[in-house]
Parts: sequence; structure tokens; C-alpha cells
Amino acid sequence: MKDLTVNYMGLRLKNPIIVASSGLTRSLEGVEKWAEAGAGAVVLKSIFEEQFWVEGGEEGLDYYPEMRDYLESGGLLDYAPQQIVKLIKEAKKRFDFPLLASINGQTERGWIRFAQQLEDAGCDGLELNIYSLPLDPEKPGDKYESGYLKIVEKVRQVVSLPLAVKIFHQITSLPHFVRRLGEAGAQGVVLFNWFLEPDLDLTSLQARHRQGEANFNLVLRWIALLANRVKCDLAASGGVKGSEEALKLILAGASAVQVCRLLYQKGPAAIREIINEINNWLEEHKYSRLTEIQGKLSLKEENLRIKGLGEATAYLRAQYIRLHSGK
Ligand SMILES: Cc1cc2nc3c(=O)[nH]c(=O)nc-3n(C[C@H](O)[C@H](O)[C@H](O)COP(=O)(O)O)c2cc1C
Repeated sequence: MKDLTVNYMGLRLKNPIIVASSGLTRSLEGVEKWAEAGAGAVVLKSIFEEQFWVEGGEEGLDYYPEMRDYLESGGLLDYAPQQIVKLIKEAKKRFDFPLLASINGQTERGWIRFAQQLEDAGCDGLELNIYSLPLDPEKPGDKYESGYLKIVEKVRQVVSLPLAVKIFHQITSLPHFVRRLGEAGAQGVVLFNWFLEPDLDLTSLQARHRQGEANFNLVLRWIALLANRVKCDLAASGGVKGSEEALKLILAGASAVQVCRLLYQKGPAAIREIINEINNWLEEHKYSRLTEIQGKLSLKEENLRIKGLGEATAYLRAQYIRLHSGK
């Protein structure tokens, strides 16, 4: 077997395949399945701040009784913070691979408290699942972005765990924002978070949600454009259907590749298959370690090959013009 180890935000992963935060990772049995399949790491299902409120007996939910009903009917209260603490402790005793917890907070106080609780439970890293839909016509984009940065700074002040931030792709200047996430204390950034998409039901005349598809090429583009140009490690999330996508993301510069829907469809066998196929590809192309190809096709490398950012821009523009002129 080739050496597939990677370093992701200071954690040593035996291979780059991470099981993404989702229903697949909300129980000990779930984590066990992925550990046995040989995953490099697991990100537990996100805990939402509302779930902490319920367990802490805090007022938050009393203001929103309908939210309590909604959470209860969706089974979300079974996955409460105390359960997670137990799950982390048990999983750390039994499995020898990095376990990351994921939080989706609402308030500054919430982010800080829950991050501390999860660090105390013994997880190896935290993924901050940050996003709020920009609904306010009075609030410009940079206000949202500085809000996200503040969350990272505050969490960084109280925990010493490796921190990753999972972000949405609709940020105006991703290179600038990701650089600032690194400066605020994130060691990793996950590109991207994918949400349920809105739809309308023409019979009931009600809004409904559907599960959209992640856009793999969008992830690939941003990994390639950011790798080694910002301080943090990058993990890719979205649209990985097998070893081919995983290899492309590593070549573009990802330190780790998260997989979700594929595992819903194919189960643990998909992890073994990706790992074996990556190994075979390295063999065929005469590499002995995965890190030898990491970032080989990133903008940074292209940039070095064609000397400067100015030339890189000219090169990308020339490709764009060629494409659109049908030549
Ligand atoms: C059923 C389901 C539940 C998910 N729950 C979470 C979650 O709790 N937290 C999170 O950060 N991402 C969540 N995700 C998003 C995935 O982690 C992942 O980013 C997304 O599915 C895109 O990757 P994929 O194309 O490999 O599925 C969920 C996805 C699915 C399909």
C-alpha cells in the first residue's frame, strides 16, 4: 500500500477521506462503520444551538414553542449535547482516528460555550458550520463576513483544538475571506456547505425544500485557486462520486476530501473502493506518497510555472477567450 497519510490542520490522517457531517455520523454505530471501512476521519453530525438550549433548560425555546415541536418531531432532540459528549468519549476509547465535532451556533455565547463543552469531551477538532442566509436588505455583505470572523476569533480564544470553518460559496471574495479566516484562528476551511434548496408545491401552494446536488466543479475551482495561497488547510466537500473526484481535489490542493451522499448510496464499501483506487493510481503513475501530488495542479503551481500573478491572469483570460470564441 502506498503512503496515503495527509496532514489536515495539524491532525495526521491515515488517508484523506473524511466522512462528512450528516445523519451518517450521529451515532456510535455510525462512527464504528466508518472506522472499520478505513476512513481517515469523521465529522460528527452538527449540533445546533437550539439543541443545547433544550438540554440546558434555557429560555430560548420557551420563546419559540413551535421550534421545540419542530425539533422534537424531527427527532433532533435525541441527538442532544449530552449524548454527543458520551458519543465522543466512547468513540475516542474505541477507535483510533481523528473525530471532529461540528457546531452550528446562533449567538456568540452559544458558540463559545458549546465549543468548550466539545473540547472537554475529548474530540480532536471542531468544525464550525457557519452560515446565516443574508435576509436583511440593510445589511451589506462585509457585515455578515465580519460576523463570521468574529465567531472564529471568539472560539479560538477559548479552545485550543484545531478549528475548521465550513463555509457557503456565496462570498464575494473567497481568497480574501479565507485568508482572514486563517488569521482569525482557523487551521482549516471546508469548501463548501450545501443546503436544502427551496421549491414551491403547485398543489398545496406551499414552500418546500428539496435536496439539491452539490457542484463538484465549483469546489474544484476554489480548492485550486486557494491552495497554498492562504494560511489554512483546505478540505473539499461536495459532489465526490468516487476516486476520480478525490484525486482531482488532491491534485488541486485539498488536504482532505469529505464524502457524504455517496456513502448514503453505497455505504462503507465506497470508502474502501476510493482508497484502493487512489492507491492503484499512485502505483500506475509511479508516486510513492499521496502528498507528492497534493497541489500539483493548483493555481499556485501554475503561477510558479508561468512566473507571476499578472501572467497567470493573462493565461486564464486567454483560455476564457479561446473557449468563448469557439476555437
Ligand atoms: C442528509 C444530510 C444531512 C446533512 N447534515 C449536515 C450537518 O448536520 N452539518 C453539516 O455541516 N453538513 C451537513 N450536510 C452536508 C454534507 O456534510 C455535505 O457538505 C454535502 O452533502 C455535500 O457533499 P456530498 O456531495 O458529498 O454529499 C448534510 C447532508 C445531507 C445529505
